[in-house]
Amino acid sequence: MKIIGIDHLGVAVNSIDQGKSFWQEVLGLEFEGSETVEEQKVTTAFLKVGTTPGMKSEVELLESTSDDGPIAKFLAKKGEGFQHVAFRVENIEDALAELKEKGIRLIDETPRIGAGGAKIAFLHPKATNGVLVELCER
Ligand code: CO
Repeated sequence: MKIIGIDHLGVAVNSIDQGKSFWQEVLGLEFEGSETVEEQKVTTAFLKVGTTPGMKSEVELLESTSDDGPIAKFLAKKGEGFQHVAFRVENIEDALAELKEKGIRLIDETPRIGAGGAKIAFLHPKATNGVLVELCER
């Protein structure tokens, strides 16, 4: 599998409006837009981090749209904070096939469509030293 770079860091927040006051106003990260992914019961806001040639990284703020989605559960258990890291891969189907072959536990066996139309899949934290890892292909 070829990992191209860190695509984004997911940060769970109680409120994107309130969360943006640090990430956008204090750190000066450029707000690139927000989007609700109903299937995941989440609204996401992307903020651009720096400019690596050919590779853009972002912070993804995640606000729950309901009381029972994955982000609501995360916030109830741990409060606001770092929630997942997303690695951009060249080919997500190949990456998932390789991980499956190596016996790595996956949350998503096949890619689904995330914010921004990216193909995404999550690995199980039990297989990743407790870090929720997302693979993403754009
Ligand atoms: Co993400």
